[in-house]
Amino acid sequence: MKENLKAMPKEYQPHTPVGPDLKWRYFWRIGPRPSNTRFQELNSEPLIPEGFPEWKETMDSWGYKMISAIEVVAEMAAIGFGLPKDAFTSLMRLELACPVTYQGPHLLAPTGSDLQKYGQEGTVFAGYHYDLNFLTIHGRSRFPGLNIWLRNGQKVEVKVPVGFFLIQTGKEIEWLTGGDCIAGMHEVVCTNRTIDAIKLAQEQGRSLWRVSSTLFACTHSIRCGSQALGTFCRIPPCKQIPTCPCRRIC
Ligand SMILES: [Fe+2]
Repeated sequence: MKENLKAMPKEYQPHTPVGPDLKWRYFWRIGPRPSNTRFQELNSEPLIPEGFPEWKETMDSWGYKMISAIEVVAEMAAIGFGLPKDAFTSLMRLELACPVTYQGPHLLAPTGSDLQKYGQEGTVFAGYHYDLNFLTIHGRSRFPGLNIWLRNGQKVEVKVPVGFFLIQTGKEIEWLTGGDCIAGMHEVVCTNRTIDAIKLAQEQGRSLWRVSSTLFACTHSIRCGSQALGTFCRIPPCKQIPTCPCRRIC
């Protein structure tokens, strides 16, 4: 990958992390965990902070709203691809003929970075990567800094308007579409726009924590990745889809 990155035009190259991501992340499970899985939960049971009696209701309420938004987009995508409307959503909550109901292990993952401490231009809050899940949805972050790469390799600074969500493609939809959709590369860094927003927040006495509300929507491992859907399923199988189930963590 390093060679590919060097081959990019300078202005499109991602920042190089010099250590771990400078971010804090909390995971809250949305919905039940898969009842039938070869991959036991890797994350510990979430801790509920003291002093927030409304914690569970607030987190679940927000999480399910984001899942609902993802489901609408997933249905629209399925229709656009000429697949049955529920081609993707049925994998997010897969109900088979057997009495077991399968469920994608969705995670609400509010993420924070302390710009008071790490507000220097070029600081990497999340190094260049793609997401492993189906679709990722974000509310508008308090501070700018998210860069995404388009399919043509162009790097774009994301500007999410107030009241809108951003949805990004992850590796699962890449497998399900046989590589027609590719998992979007992205990074979060302190840019000159972040610095401007920090100055404004300081003038207004606002918090300098960059907080983004992220939810990772997943499909269930029992089906996702075994083969691509509909016309995306090619023989011989598309090279992008790994056949070994151990690539899954859910
Ligand atoms: Fe990501």
